[in-house]
Amino acid sequence: MDVRSCGINLNHWYVVAQSQEITTKPKEVKLWYNSIVLYRDSMGKIHALDNRCPHRQVKLSEGKVLENSLECAYHGWQFNGEGNCTFIPYLNPEFSCSNSNNKALPKIKIESYPVQEFDGFVWIFLGDKKLLNSDKNQTMSIPEWDHLNYIATVSVIDCQAHFSFLIENLMDMYHGHLHDDYQAWTDANLKELLTTEEEVKGIYEAKSYYKIDKIWSISQLFFPSFRSLHPESLMVNYCYPHWQSTLGKDFTIYCLLCPISLTHTKAYLIHFTSLNAFWRLHKLPRWFRQFIKDKLYGTAQTMLDGLVAQDIIMIEQEQQAYEQKIRKPTYEINPTIPAVQKMIKKQVKDECNPDILRRGDRENFII
Ligand code: FES
Ligand SMILES: [Fe+2]
Repeated sequence: MDVRSCGINLNHWYVVAQSQEITTKPKEVKLWYNSIVLYRDSMGKIHALDNRCPHRQVKLSEGKVLENSLECAYHGWQFNGEGNCTFIPYLNPEFSCSNSNNKALPKIKIESYPVQEFDGFVWIFLGDKKLLNSDKNQTMSIPEWDHLNYIATVSVIDCQAHFSFLIENLMDMYHGHLHDDYQAWTDANLKELLTTEEEVKGIYEAKSYYKIDKIWSISQLFFPSFRSLHPESLMVNYCYPHWQSTLGKDFTIYCLLCPISLTHTKAYLIHFTSLNAFWRLHKLPRWFRQFIKDKLYGTAQTMLDGLVAQDIIMIEQEQQAYEQKIRKPTYEINPTIPAVQKMIKKQVKDECNPDILRRGDRENFII
């Protein structure tokens, strides 16, 4: 099996949006050849439906939300959060002009998907609903999101490449070379590689450029001369289908995957800077600590976006070389790469569900 043509195991929760993006205006999101419409009802609850009106197949995301229902833009059919058609204007008995057709509402239902909001993100499950609550199929926990000691920055990755190229990039810490001024670490040396059914974990020894131990340490983000190299442990963990990393005690990064197709991958990179070293800060009132957390949100934006832009160039070139069928020999020296490739293949092989894949309906999907 060629890893670049592997699908995803849909029996996991995937992130399709940030919470703040979803309002009472319907929004289209995509996950593995599926177009999904998300909206909030009048109570603020998020619903996820197949983004296709069963009348003429137009996108329901063109419509609007009325109380708890989603109304199609074309003829005004309405659907509730469970996907049941609840109203067709033409059949409304109260609509008593001579053209009206006083028939009962037909039983029409479109697919609705389990959806939940956690830690600032919207998670969707497109897999086998019988497996929904199994221990293996939980959303990835991000305790730093609400913790007052962590400052978050989010960068969206959108690349024209198979998701395996992104995961390999995230597991291969030998590529610090690429990142010039944005480089957070150097001299990585893989010390341990641990694999389980659901995880590939690499533990590197490295040197970090940043140390968050003084209140002005944040200035290291902007001025390279304030940085000084010191040894730190660098851990990367592919917890299928997502990824997490720590650099010493100061930094934690998550990458929440949303593969869209074989050649298009979206993901959310969330970077946390720890303020744990500042014990005096913890004595301040909660509201003030929340104020600081909110004020400092996005502090690492330039660095994170810069890293992402550099990585995307490399990842997309790998995809292009793959598509051009350049069959020159390649040499891999990092054992994390074959380990994640094995995991990706195993996930598809073990839990592939033909019903789910059929629903992907690749022919009609506009990427
Ligand atoms: S196409 Fe949606 S109501 Fe007609
Ligand atoms: Fe990178």
